[in-house]
Amino acid sequence: MKKQKNFIFRCSNCGHEEPKWLGRCPECGEWNVLIEAASPGSADVAAGVSRGRHVKTPRSYPLSSVDPQESVRISSGIAEFDRVLGGGIMKRAAILVGGEPGIGKSTLLLQTAAAARTQGRVLYISGEESAGQVRMRADRLGVMARGERGGDRIEICCTSVLEDIEIVLEAVRPVVIIVDSAQTLHTDAAGLTPGTVNQMKYCSWELISWVKEHDAVLFLVAHVTKDGAIAGPKTLEHMVDAVLYFEQNDADCRFLRAAKNRFGSVDEIGIFTMGEKGLATVEDPSLLFLVSREGELPSGVATAAVLEGSRALLVEIQALTAPVKGAVSRVFSDRVDQARVSRIAAILEKHLNLRLSDQDLYINVAGGIRIAEVGVDLAIAAALYSARTDIPLPVKTAIAGELSLAGEVRPLRRLAGRVKAGQSLGFETFIGPASDEANFELTAVKDVKSAIRTLFAPNSAARMTERN
Ligand code: TYD
Ligand code: MG
Repeated sequence: MKKQKNFIFRCSNCGHEEPKWLGRCPECGEWNVLIEAASPGSADVAAGVSRGRHVKTPRSYPLSSVDPQESVRISSGIAEFDRVLGGGIMKRAAILVGGEPGIGKSTLLLQTAAAARTQGRVLYISGEESAGQVRMRADRLGVMARGERGGDRIEICCTSVLEDIEIVLEAVRPVVIIVDSAQTLHTDAAGLTPGTVNQMKYCSWELISWVKEHDAVLFLVAHVTKDGAIAGPKTLEHMVDAVLYFEQNDADCRFLRAAKNRFGSVDEIGIFTMGEKGLATVEDPSLLFLVSREGELPSGVATAAVLEGSRALLVEIQALTAPVKGAVSRVFSDRVDQARVSRIAAILEKHLNLRLSDQDLYINVAGGIRIAEVGVDLAIAAALYSARTDIPLPVKTAIAGELSLAGEVRPLRRLAGRVKAGQSLGFETFIGPASDEANFELTAVKDVKSAIRTLFAPNSAARMTERN
């Protein structure tokens, strides 16, 4: 009988396991990192587990006896942050906050610490900055000015060694733990090289287990760099309950998006600006994505009423068409999916006889927000039509509608909300699909042809008279 091997080779960088030794880890691509280790089923490991502190007798229990733990949410004190989290921070949650250095992760979490301390102690573990630096930021944010009493303290601990953190956790028993950042965490138990993915995974897992057992909340900060070096934090995504990424547009506005959320939707975005006293919520985000102008609009500009999560936003869509430079027509659009723009161009070409295949198409959204919602289709069509024909769209007109390949304007979700958002910003005309809800004013259009006719008729007639 073949004897079962009781050792394997484990990558000291990423934790990948191989039955035989290899010079290079097939998972992370690092050289000379595979080290012999006891295999999971071996007697050595079994002995280790039984000696370990996680030993519990496994048992099952009726699902009906489980406390559903609904509504155990803590407010982060920042409305936009709560919105992205699905209505506040869920107890026992592990939340990864990723983003480029300097985007405001530490600021966001220190502001959260200030709000959460009313629930109990908050432990801020800083592996990157000194206690003095964190204190300086806290002063700047006005966190200390609110006064600290015995029960609602923010504790700071500057270490990145897992064993030290565990000792402090037992002593402080915090309700919220902030680890800034996960990349600095290390322990001798997870291989000899500090700073490896394996170290980060091992330590994060230990901390996640701690908060689940102790009804606390864990925030893990993770740096993500522009050139896509996200391998580190990406490996944590499946372990945590929510993954939030902070991003910045060209302007001074920061978006917080959920890439994963076990406790809410991933459609919501939080919109912030960084001010003198930390991150502030933007009261009316549409103002960031609209350009204020006097008089007639330039050609190629349309206003779309789109949904971002549960919120209706008005955004300016800008289009430019220019004769092709290469052999084929190309689409340049980084805020709206290029395939969507190509599809809309094809619809215009087919249903309105508008020649676009000899043009390069440029699409932009003012304020730098990315739009993926279907309701933006009709506004892109109008902007392209306006750009190509050089006829401007009428002022104070907002547009919403999804286009089918047959050129129909399809019904939209939450049309009333979009019209209301438009009205509150002074838009007088609203062009969109027909709706059964009759409690708002709307010029209903059934296809792209009638939409373009409705939108451009007044202006093109005026142009004609001017020319005559
Ligand atoms: P920080 O939270 O340290 O970013 P991260 O932890 O993601 O690396 O802060 C980001 C930037 O924000 C930093 O350049 C300083 C600036 N800032 C302000 O403009 N106002 C403030 O009140 C604070 C605290 C920081
Ligand atoms: Mg930081």
